[in-house]
Amino acid sequence: MASTLLRSVLYVPGSNPKALAKAPGLGADALILDLEDSVAPEAKAAARDNIRTTLPGMAGQSLHRTVRINGVETSLWQADLDGVLPGNPEAITLPKVEHPNQVETVATYLAAREPEGKSLPIWAMIESPLGVLNAFAIATHPRVSCLVLGTSDLGKDLGVEATPEREALHTALQMTVLAARAAKVAVVDGVFLDLKDAAGLAAQCAQGVRFGFDGKTVIHPTQVTAANAAFLPSPEAVTRARALVASWQAARERGEEICVVDGRLVERLHVVQAERILDLARRAAEKKPA
Ligand code: COA
Ligand code: MG
Repeated sequence: MASTLLRSVLYVPGSNPKALAKAPGLGADALILDLEDSVAPEAKAAARDNIRTTLPGMAGQSLHRTVRINGVETSLWQADLDGVLPGNPEAITLPKVEHPNQVETVATYLAAREPEGKSLPIWAMIESPLGVLNAFAIATHPRVSCLVLGTSDLGKDLGVEATPEREALHTALQMTVLAARAAKVAVVDGVFLDLKDAAGLAAQCAQGVRFGFDGKTVIHPTQVTAANAAFLPSPEAVTRARALVASWQAARERGEEICVVDGRLVERLHVVQAERILDLARRAAEKKPA
């Protein structure tokens, strides 16, 4: 439901120039160039420089470019913003958000540095119990355009083990999706840490689709393809959606508001859902190859 394709959102450590150079060519829909937890304290300054100088070369590609700064509870986030804003990111990812005031703090700092009429969107990371409980208030801040689940930090704070089914996180995942949908912003799922477990990744991507996420954050090039495939409607789903829209349009021409397709009742709401599938498939097909 996001207006931008966000099937795969790849984290790239700002301290890794090789990964930064590689990132735009990997087919991800979005990048989170990281200054937070993947970057050692002594490497933060160099990482800001790397990100600022790499960002302009990524412009114009079919790719949304965000930078994750350090949280507002640290002493680093202002220098992070000062360091990367000249590179023109398309959004700022803010970690460990627990209250809309924290978004407002960053928004005020940005507003003092932005040209009039410009308002850089903020992607708010929901990765603590309080963040989940305040997700709707956070999502309705006017700067927030996306919620990003931080499932590793959330699991740590809940004191639960990561399991394939993530049953201990279901409520938090669903509450965050509910908050995002109620606020009409995008929402992407957390990461899958086992780089060698392709089947586990595919299963977790599929779970994210069933939970209603727009996409998944990923950490390695090999995970991009799995997320892109999972969050793209299948050819069968596209065929079904086309047939449903055509049948309903024919019903409307007969002056009817409902019809039956493949033995199932179809109302206007189903047409809205089918058109969403077709729109997503169209936007993915239009995406320029990396
Ligand atoms: N983005 C872009 N390129 C990446 C990448 C990423 N996230 N992760 C790995 N690559 C590149 C490597 O630079 C390497 O490039 P090369 O072939 O030109 O040498 C290639 O992909 C293969 O990498 P590989 O050797 O399999 O992995 P690695 O051991 O170099 O790195 C990780 C493994 C997990 C350290 C790395 O994938 C990573 O840093 N991921 C992101 C972690 C992160 O940002 N976490 C914060 C949020 S949870
Ligand atoms: Mg985190």
